[in-house]
Amino acid sequence: MKSANIVLIGDGAIGSSYAFNCLITGVGKSIGIIDVNMTRVQGDVEDLSDALPYVAQKNIYAANYADCEYADIVVITAGVAQKPGETRLQLLAKNAKIITEITNNIMANHFDGIILVASNPVDVLTELVLRLSGLPRNRVLGSGTALDSARLRSEIGRRYNIDVRTVHAYIMGEHGDSEFPVWDYATVGGQPLCDFVPKAQQDQDFATISERVKTAAYSIIEKKGATFYGIAASLTRLTAAVLNDDHAAFAMSVHLEGEYGLHDVSIGVPVLLGGNGLDRILQLDLNPADLKRLQDSAQVLKDNLQTVL
Ligand code: 2OP
Repeated sequence: MKSANIVLIGDGAIGSSYAFNCLITGVGKSIGIIDVNMTRVQGDVEDLSDALPYVAQKNIYAANYADCEYADIVVITAGVAQKPGETRLQLLAKNAKIITEITNNIMANHFDGIILVASNPVDVLTELVLRLSGLPRNRVLGSGTALDSARLRSEIGRRYNIDVRTVHAYIMGEHGDSEFPVWDYATVGGQPLCDFVPKAQQDQDFATISERVKTAAYSIIEKKGATFYGIAASLTRLTAAVLNDDHAAFAMSVHLEGEYGLHDVSIGVPVLLGGNGLDRILQLDLNPADLKRLQDSAQVLKDNLQTVL
């Protein structure tokens, strides 16, 4: 039985939102927070603790890397975030250095849990953490296209007036500009979306939905400077799936070893997530066009990874 210990590394807007979301949804029994600015962490710990009487009992504390030894899951949100108009891949040079130091610090403390990476570009950084840590692939995962898939489901729900909880759909590939929706596997209450939407409407509708999902972060960053609630809720759900051993399906960034014909890359694909991290990769029977989109996206990620190895 897991002790439900979370260590969060990075207490910026995403990290702080994640910690608060874990608090109000009761995910985890303890949350240790690490950041380069430990004064801010102390303030956040005090602020979050003030909420406890109204939400749930939880041990929230300013942590250090020695606490990773007792963590079931370490969630990494540290790093610089996109500025308006900046791509996630443009953050790679700076964030690779930060993530390298963080990974080395985690592994210097007998860590044997699961690492969940959210820092961008998340797919390339997940692969970097996997290689630096030496951990098996089931224990180094990235949030990947979990958020994008939530955005896709919301867009479908809004457009066709459907409760988003009964819409299931995946975005696969890079969490970024080369991502794509897998329309063949989108369903409404189990009915294929391609049967639910009139054929004459599909091209225009699906193109519009796809573009809105792909550009969602850019749009939010233009308006409010950053995104944090969507990714924080995604990270909380992924954390709960690990701590509760849910064996639940998500699209997230995992290292492929031949699945979809791909090797040596972490990229967003549908998986089952549970107490041991990656339970199983769900190999969808992608049509040739989608398989090429995935392989092209993987090549973008591999090319970028080479620039920081
Ligand atoms: C997002 O998609 C910025 O990657 C972050 O919201």
